Amino acid sequence: MMAPAKTLFDSLPLLVVMAQACWSVCVEVASEDRAVMDSNTTLTCISCMRREEVKSETYVKWFYNADNNDSSLIFVYDGTPQEQKSHLSGRLQWKGSKDLQEVSLGINNLKLNDTGTYTCEVTRHLNFDAHQHSITTTLKVHLVVTEIAEEDFTAVVSEIMMYILLVFLTVWLLVEMVYCYRKILKADDVAQDTATDYLAIPSENKETPAVPVGE
Ligand SMILES: *[C@@H]1O[C@H](CO)[C@@H](O)[C@H](O)[C@H]1NC(C)=O
Ligand SMILES: *[C@@H]1O[C@H](CO)[C@@H](O)[C@H](O)[C@H]1NC(C)=O
Ligand SMILES: *[C@@H]1O[C@H](CO)[C@@H](O)[C@H](O)[C@H]1NC(C)=O
Repeated sequence: MMAPAKTLFDSLPLLVVMAQACWSVCVEVASEDRAVMDSNTTLTCISCMRREEVKSETYVKWFYNADNNDSSLIFVYDGTPQEQKSHLSGRLQWKGSKDLQEVSLGINNLKLNDTGTYTCEVTRHLNFDAHQHSITTTLKVHLVVTEIAEEDFTAVVSEIMMYILLVFLTVWLLVEMVYCYRKILKADDVAQDTATDYLAIPSENKETPAVPVGE
């Protein structure tokens, strides 16, 4: 009866790690990325580590998957960055941080056919006295390479909208000013009439109180 208990006790750290692994799926990438042909881009992959993972050995693999095709290994980091042979050869750049919290990959001089799904795979080997445990997390980023900047089109549209709005506002302001001016002119006429009336009344009233005083 002693042996199973000991085995259970031995594997307790492993169970703890496995339970934590469920919570530590913490590889973050932007799920979609858009870039323009001939430019450089960075596929961002952030892998936040737990404290106990800091001393682990970390391996990073980047895969490329043209839409509807098998994944191919394009980049490996196992202590040193290594570019794999692919149509992306010579254009990849390791953008990982020293502590391997960030394991991003840069692609220079983008081609239209670089469009596809890129997978960031982070494996951490955790060494315990009796056990070795690996945690692998993957995330995908879909890259779309376009011929012209889509942002530019939006910018042009919003610029045109701004000019239309400016012209509209100016016209509206002019119309309002003319309307106001004419209203003021009319009001001035009325005001002058009222003023004459007003001035006329006190001169009449002045005489009225004078009457009881006189009596
Ligand atoms: C892209 O990166 C390469 C290498 O770092 C650099 O020579 C080139 O000027 C960059 N191009 C752009 C458009 O930033
Ligand atoms: C899929 O990839 C292979 C090489 O890995 C290539 O020969 C084939 O043409 C590709 N198919 C499509 C549909 O892109
Ligand atoms: C991708 O397109 C470039 C030209 O834009 C071409 O030279 C290259 O062979 C193409 N690669 C693949 C895998 O189709």
